[in-house]
Amino acid sequence: MGDRKPLISGNWKMHHTHLDAIAVVQKLSYALHDDDYDAVDVSVHPTFVSLRSVQTVILADKLRFVLGAQNCHWEDHGAFTGEVSPSMLAKLEVSYVIVGHSERRELFGETDDMVNKKANAVFGAGMTPILCVGETLDEREAGGAETKVDGQVRAGLAGLTGEQVAAMVIAYEPIWAIGTGRTATADDAQAMCALIRATVADVAGDASSSIRIQYGGSVKPANTAELMAQPDIDGALVGGASLEADDFARIVRYRRVSE
Ligand code: PGA
Repeated sequence: MGDRKPLISGNWKMHHTHLDAIAVVQKLSYALHDDDYDAVDVSVHPTFVSLRSVQTVILADKLRFVLGAQNCHWEDHGAFTGEVSPSMLAKLEVSYVIVGHSERRELFGETDDMVNKKANAVFGAGMTPILCVGETLDEREAGGAETKVDGQVRAGLAGLTGEQVAAMVIAYEPIWAIGTGRTATADDAQAMCALIRATVADVAGDASSSIRIQYGGSVKPANTAELMAQPDIDGALVGGASLEADDFARIVRYRRVSE
């Protein structure tokens, strides 16, 4: 389906000081080579306080992975104590911004409307949003996973142009699989990613063949190849297994399954 280059993203959540982040990035740079970057786009998403340090290492060593952020506000500036704006991230050469991660939705009260404003603002500042969607275990067991995810995708894409939708990333992250060691089966993950692509087609037509859809939730070196072999899975959003450079590099090199 199309020629979508996979995107593998390391979401470091609230882990790693800026010194730890520099060390991981340097180790990762030794482990990855040009043929890896030719095959897969790679982004790392440290905390806000580490972005400048990681950006400096990427620039100085001309590294081929790109910088990502985990969140942002939707306004450009103003009286929003504790928030960080999209234009501030763009100035740090951030390429991708995660919006609507389930931890932000569940723990910090982010609504579909806020997440949509963030997605629009990220594009407005010249970056690319990674829009996260996914159902809870209760919703899945009650048979409501599809409805939940379909609604989150429609709400998240509101106001975006077809061109923007084509360029963005959606991460399907079943909440019950995040940080639990429990991964969706490749078949289940594929089914939901296919549903997401169908929803995108309904909302934004042809953009659905270009948009990249990641799977996230306990991705590890051992399960990446099988997930990535699915026709509607174009990448992975990796939490726990991205914290150490060795594991994350093995995930990026999932094509070499024998390693
Ligand atoms: P996990 O987290 O890989 O630790 O399950 C994924 C995520 O929350 O992005």
